[in-house]
Amino acid sequence: MQREAFWALTPDVVFLNHGSYGACPRPVLERQHELRLHMESEPVRFMTRELEPLLDQARAVLSGFVGAQPQDLVAVTNATTAVNAVVGSLRFSPGDELLVTSHGYNACTNAVRLAAERSGAGVVVAPVPFPLEHAEQIVDAVLAAVTPRTRLAVVDFVTSPTALVFPIERLVRELEAQGVMVLVDGAHAPGMVPLALDSLEASFFTGNLHKWVCAPKGAAFLHVRRDRQALVRPTVISHGANSPRRDRSRFQLEFDWVGTSDLTAFLSVPRALEVLAPWPELMRHNRDDALAAGALLAKALGVRLPAPAELIGSMVAVPLRGDQAGLERWLFDERRIQVPIISFGGRWWVRVSLQRHVRPGDVQALADALLTRNAGVAG
Ligand SMILES: Cc1ncc(COP(=O)(O)O)c(C=O)c1O
Repeated sequence: MQREAFWALTPDVVFLNHGSYGACPRPVLERQHELRLHMESEPVRFMTRELEPLLDQARAVLSGFVGAQPQDLVAVTNATTAVNAVVGSLRFSPGDELLVTSHGYNACTNAVRLAAERSGAGVVVAPVPFPLEHAEQIVDAVLAAVTPRTRLAVVDFVTSPTALVFPIERLVRELEAQGVMVLVDGAHAPGMVPLALDSLEASFFTGNLHKWVCAPKGAAFLHVRRDRQALVRPTVISHGANSPRRDRSRFQLEFDWVGTSDLTAFLSVPRALEVLAPWPELMRHNRDDALAAGALLAKALGVRLPAPAELIGSMVAVPLRGDQAGLERWLFDERRIQVPIISFGGRWWVRVSLQRHVRPGDVQALADALLTRNAGVAG
C-alpha cells in the first residue's frame, strides 16, 4: 500500500522525525472528524451527557494497553501539561532537592525549576554519561545524585535528545525504595515500549498518545498511584474542586473537566490502538528498523553508535562530525528530509525515528545527504 493511502504525510518528504510530534493515520483522523461532527451536532448534549461515558470508554481501552486500572488514569493534552500539574501540586520545603537528569526534556526541566524556585528547593541534575556502554551507568549516575533531601525525581523513560530507553523499572524500584517519589516522563513510551504501569509502581507517570500511539495531536495521559492521588491537582482548577459527587475520585473529577475543550483526540485513541494492532509486532518492527537504520548510518558515516542495542527503541541517535548548526534546515530545504539535528554534550547528533510509514530507501537518502554535507568521518 502507498504510504499516503494510510498516513496523511505528504509524499514529497522523507519523514524521519516521527518522534517529535508523531503522525496520525487517516482512519484515526476520520474517527476524530466523526466525533467532532457529532459534538457540534448538539454541543450541550455532548458535553453534559455524552462526554463522560465516551471518556470512560477510551480510558478503559487505554488502561488495558498500558497495564493500569482506569481509576488511576486521566486524560491530559500532552506530557508537558501532566508534568506541570504534578510538580506544581507537590509542596516542597527550602532545602529539599528535586532530581532531574542531563538527558531530560527542556520544557519539563523548566517546570521542575519553577516549582523548586517557588519553594526554595534546589534542582540537582544527574549527569548521565553519553555515549555509554550499558544500562548500569544510567542507574549509577541517577542514584549517585540522591541525597537524604531528595523528594522527587523526574526521569525520562525514553530520552528526547539522545534516544535512550532508560532502565526504568530499576530506576523506579531503587528510587521509590529510598522514599523518592518518581515522576516518569514517558512522553515517548506508549506505543514504543510495552507498559505495565500497575507493576511499575511509580508515583506518577505521563505518556503521550500523539507520538507512538499515533493518536491525533493533544492526546496524552497522567497515571497517578492510588496513594498519591490526593496530592495531585490539575493546573487549571474547575468544577471538580467542589463537586458533591461521590461516584468517582476527586482526582478524576478534577482532571476530567478543566474547562471547555476538544477531547476528541483522546477519544480517538481506541481507533488508533485498533488500526495499528498488533502492537507487539509493530514495536518489534520499529525497533528492528531503528537498529538497522543506526547500523546503516554508522557505517556510512564511519562512526560508532553511542549506546548498545538494549538501550535502543524506535529512535536512534548517530554522531556527526563538526559543527552542524545549519544542517537540519539544509536537509529539509534542499533534500526534503525531515529529521532533527541535535546538539548534546558538545557534539552534534542526527536522531532518526522509525515508524511503519518510513519507506525503503528513506534512511539511505539521509545517509547520502549527510555524506554530501561532509557530516561523517568517512565523508
Ligand atoms: C521526553 C519528553 N518529554 C516531554 C515531551 C513533551 O511532549 P509534549 O510537547 O507533547 O508535551 C517530549 C516531546 O518531545 C519529550 O520527548
